[in-house]
Amino acid sequence: MNKTVLAAIIVTIAMLGFTYVAVGSAGGMGGEGDWVNKLAVLGAVVLVIITSFVVTKYVRQMQNDTATGKLAEENWDGIGEYKNELPFGWAVIFLGSIVWAMWYFLAGYPVNAYSQIGEYNEEVKAHDVKFEAEHKNMDPETLKEMGGSVFIVQCAPCHGLQADGINGKAANLTHRLDEKSVKHVINNGGNNFKTDYPGGMPPMLLQDPAQIDAVAKYVASGFKADDAAGKAAFLAGTCNTCHGENGEGMPSVAPKINGFDTAMVTTVLKDGKKGAIGAMPAFNNLTEAQVQALGAYVTDLSK
Ligand code: HEC
Ligand code: HEC
Repeated sequence: MNKTVLAAIIVTIAMLGFTYVAVGSAGGMGGEGDWVNKLAVLGAVVLVIITSFVVTKYVRQMQNDTATGKLAEENWDGIGEYKNELPFGWAVIFLGSIVWAMWYFLAGYPVNAYSQIGEYNEEVKAHDVKFEAEHKNMDPETLKEMGGSVFIVQCAPCHGLQADGINGKAANLTHRLDEKSVKHVINNGGNNFKTDYPGGMPPMLLQDPAQIDAVAKYVASGFKADDAAGKAAFLAGTCNTCHGENGEGMPSVAPKINGFDTAMVTTVLKDGKKGAIGAMPAFNNLTEAQVQALGAYVTDLSK
């Protein structure tokens, strides 16, 4: 027997052996397994046999074939090339794929037409509209409850289930500002909230450390009326011209700094915030109802 054929038979038997080991009794060889497994194993066996035959054919061809045909005129260092006709089937497939590609882009699956992602986005949009309609004019209690649910999913990973900021990892939302944050914005200014307060806050309105300390204490403790030093420093820094006498804020000029309200929370969600504590990303994927709900929930936390 020819050596090549012998090698092919050995390889076939070895591959059949490997197939059996790989699928084992799950392949149904031992009588178990269903017909799908049996069919799969049969397919594997057929593939192994066909592969062996085809490989053998070509190996023998490489060993025995002699070159025939007409040589092209050019040769490279004595190495010539035969003139080969373009195989007809190859040419048909080549032209066919061009036609098919045109059909695919223009008629079959045109760009920007049907796609599963597009369909998914449309469904989400339709659902959001329904959701918004359903949750219009919620009473305050339901709104807060919904805010709590959204908070657990979206905010608690950083702010903590108790909204205490997990030991300083994020802002403590049971209290609007700490002294560190007030000092930070006085020294560095701030322009986080570009959407609602495009002008930002300039740095260094106060430079005397004693005044900065006094203002930080005054603001962080919630504008205590009997804190004369704090109040004086607040006026000296012209803080009141933007934030108002008691830190209630001014539309488009400066945010509320004496507590939380829905507008303040919405502002943070729109642009995110980077401050003394860390950085919070913007949340632009929430629906209007969810934003209102979070506003109600966070406002309630600090009461
Ligand atoms: C020109 C107007 C303006 C003046 C004057 C001003 N602020 Fe502000 N303040 C802003 C704006 C705008 C922001 C929002 C900053 C941002 O977008 O990050 C802000 C933010 C703040 C915050 C919130 C920071 C935070 O971490 O959330 C505090 C506290 C504050 N200002 C305190 C003061 C104090 C104290 C003074 C006086 C020394 C003062 N501001 C003067 C406009 C002003
Ligand atoms: C990736 C972590 C992270 C997530 C998630 C996150 N936050 Fe924050 N948040 C922060 C950090 C950090 C700060 C403090 C920024 C600073 O002032 O330095 C902050 C600050 C805030 C503030 C401003 C507090 C203040 O007194 O100025 C509010 C309001 C807020 N977050 C609300 C939310 C809400 C509502 C969600 C959920 C939709 C949320 N955060 C999700 C990290 C996060």
